[in-house]
Amino acid sequence: MGNIRIIGTGRCLGEKVVSNDDIATIVDTSDQWITSRTGIKERRISISKNTSDLATDAAIKAIKTAEIDVLDLDLIIVATTTPESFTPSTACLVQAKLGAENAVAFDISAACSGFIYSINCARKFLDGIRFKKALVVGAEVLSRIVDWKDRSTCVLFGDGAGAAILEYSEEAGGVIDVYIGSNGSKGKCLNTGRFNIENPFVKSDDVGNHKLSMAGKEVFKFAVNIIPYSVSKVLEENSISLDEIKYIVPHQANYRIVESASKRLKVPMDRFYINLNKYGNTSAASIPIALDEMNEKGMINKGDKIILVGFGGGLTWGAILLQW
Ligand code: ACO
Repeated sequence: MGNIRIIGTGRCLGEKVVSNDDIATIVDTSDQWITSRTGIKERRISISKNTSDLATDAAIKAIKTAEIDVLDLDLIIVATTTPESFTPSTACLVQAKLGAENAVAFDISAACSGFIYSINCARKFLDGIRFKKALVVGAEVLSRIVDWKDRSTCVLFGDGAGAAILEYSEEAGGVIDVYIGSNGSKGKCLNTGRFNIENPFVKSDDVGNHKLSMAGKEVFKFAVNIIPYSVSKVLEENSISLDEIKYIVPHQANYRIVESASKRLKVPMDRFYINLNKYGNTSAASIPIALDEMNEKGMINKGDKIILVGFGGGLTWGAILLQW
């Protein structure tokens, strides 16, 4: 049996840089409040690019760094909470835009854990026979579902996409293991409203609300527990110690959440990669965007072990143990 290696990464962010001061012109907030409670200084908001456009641009960069032909892709998975249509899936839109006509394409919905879930799914497909290369993208236009009147949430999110090319390989390294979990009974903590049943046979006065809402404190408590738990779980199950891990790449939601995980795991903050100050929370895109930045900066060398760890709506969570 071969290994599943990441051979290329890419990213694309919303075009408009929106500072905390800019947000303070929309809702009653301040740079001081947002910075001290979250660590976020600015975020990128999409002006012209929809989810599949951001995903395609991130994918093009990943394909280039992987030095593969687009026709080599056997599989495309897009993780998103903000698809631009129910059907076609964002992955099918990306397939068409790329001209990746040999790929099977579909989306995964696992909110901010979507990239972790999608890597796990892709590695189950990659058998070295029918499926040799996969494109996995996390892409979001959260500005579309954010309630811009709700200061407790609209300050947190941004738009962007991150992509990775996975390859079945006989070479050592790659995805060592993935741990994922869900708890649907806590779904109400973070939701984007719902679509009610509406047809000629049902009368409903409730038109539904499709804006994002969040029980911030509850999600915070969940996050500070689930990050250390997921990291420990994936290490224990593979008899690998934290000392062997060069970097932990967490979902970029809140600096204080990462700080708490750092204390609980007894891992210094400089071994966590953080870019939420520039982009805010980009949900499924946050981990692959971070990974691409690290790759571009040359922070990860062949043989280095890293952990990607995410949590989010669903509730969902998960961690990937990876050898570069
Ligand atoms: N500006 C100014 N004041 C604000 C703002 C704002 N933007 N938002 C809330 N406040 C006020 C509140 O009204 C409240 O005022 P009050 O005390 O007079 O009632 C006060 O600030 C404190 O509000 P809290 O909600 O208690 O603030 P908290 O310290 O919990 O921080 C936050 C809120 C940042 C949302 C925090 O709970 C958090 O980070 N939660 C986790 C969120 C998260 O990680 N979400 C994403 C995970 S999943 C995914 O990525 C989709």
